Amino acid sequence: MGCFAISCVVTTLILVSVIVETNGGRVVEEKCDLFNGKWVLDDSYPLYEISNCPFIEKEFDCLSNGRPDQLYLKHRWQPTSCNLPRFNGYDLLRRLEGKSILFVGDSLSLNQWQSLTCMLHTAVPQAKYTSIRNGALSIFTFPSFDVKVKFSRNALLVDTVSEDIGRVLKLDSIEVANTWQGNDILIFDSWHWWLHTGRKQPWDFIQVGNRTYRDMDRLTAYTTALKTWAKWIDDNVDPTKTRVFFQGVSPDHANGTSWGESGLTSCKGQIRPFDGSNYPGGPHPAETVLKSVISTMSKPVYLLDITPLSQLRIDAHPSVYGHGGHRDLDCSHWCLPGVPDTWNVLLYAALSQN
Ligand SMILES: *[C@@H]1O[C@H](CO)[C@@H](O)[C@H](O)[C@H]1NC(C)=O
Ligand SMILES: *[C@@H]1O[C@H](CO)[C@@H](O)[C@H](O)[C@H]1NC(C)=O
Repeated sequence: MGCFAISCVVTTLILVSVIVETNGGRVVEEKCDLFNGKWVLDDSYPLYEISNCPFIEKEFDCLSNGRPDQLYLKHRWQPTSCNLPRFNGYDLLRRLEGKSILFVGDSLSLNQWQSLTCMLHTAVPQAKYTSIRNGALSIFTFPSFDVKVKFSRNALLVDTVSEDIGRVLKLDSIEVANTWQGNDILIFDSWHWWLHTGRKQPWDFIQVGNRTYRDMDRLTAYTTALKTWAKWIDDNVDPTKTRVFFQGVSPDHANGTSWGESGLTSCKGQIRPFDGSNYPGGPHPAETVLKSVISTMSKPVYLLDITPLSQLRIDAHPSVYGHGGHRDLDCSHWCLPGVPDTWNVLLYAALSQN
C-alpha cells in the first residue's frame, strides 16, 4: 500500500506516539510478576505435536507410552496482571542468531532442554538440525540460524572427585565450571540428586575445606554448593556477554499430603491441575535457599521461578506413562508436551524483553 507524503508523515507521527505509549506500558509490564497466576484451559494448546518431534526421549513421551487422558495438554499459564507473549520459535531463533545456550543440570534440565529443542524444531520444521551427544554433553544445532542449544548433565554443579577413599563430593570446588565458558546464555538447575541415598547416591564422602563427612544435612550441603556456584558466577561471568538463568526447583508429587490428599502416595491417576493457586504444601525449602543465595550475588541472575506454578500441576507427570511405559511411577519429571514448555515460554518472555 502506498501513501502520499503528508499522510505518511501523519502515520509516522501516530506510530511514534504509539511506541511511546508502549514503552510506558512496558515499564508496568516489567513489574508484572510472570510467575504469579493460574492455569487456564486453552484449546490452542499444546504448543506442538509430539509426533513432529522425533528426537524426544521416550521417558517424556507420555502419549506414545499410552497415556489416555489429554486435558493436561490443554493448559496455558496465565499471569495475574499481564500476558505472556505467545511463543514464537522463529523469532527466538532469529534473536539467538550466532549464539549458544547451555543448560547445565540434572534430568529436569534435560526435560526443559528437550522441550525447547522441540519447540524450536516444530517452529521451523524445514530447517536442518543436528543433534550429537558426547558423553555428558548434548549439542542440538540449527546451522542455518547458527544457533546451538546444549545440555550438560551435571546434577550437583560442584565437583565430585575419585580418590583413594572413594567418590568425594567437594562442596567448595567447581573446576567443572570452566567448561561453561564461552556460551551466551547459561541455564542451571540442581536439587533432586542432593536427596539421593544408598545406591543412587553418586558420592561416598562429602568434603568442605579440610573436613570430610560421611553425610550431612542435605539442605545444608546444597546451600554450600550453591554458594560455591554463586561465587564462580560472580567471579567469572561478564554480564555484557553472558546471561545467567537458574531454573527454580522442580517440585515432585509423590506425597498427596502436599496437595491436601493425605492418603495418596503418588501422582497416579491425577488428570487435572490442583484447583486454586494456594498450594497446601507451601514454598519448597530448596527454592527458599536458592532465592536467598541468588539475592546475595553481585552479578545478575534471572530466576525462572517455576516452583509455585509447577506445584499446581499434579496432573502433568508421566506417572505410569514414562520410562518407555509402565515400568515404574514417575512423579518427578514432566510429560512433553507439557509443563516444561511453559518454563520455556517464560524463558522466551525474559529473552525477548530487550
Ligand atoms: C588444612 O589443614 C592444614 C593443617 O591444619 C592447614 O595447613 C591447611 O591450611 C588447611 N587447608 C585448608 C584449605 O583449610
Ligand atoms: C507425606 O508427608 C507427610 C507430611 O510431611 C509425612 O508425615 C508423611 O510421612 C509423608 N508420607 C510418605 C509416604 O512419605
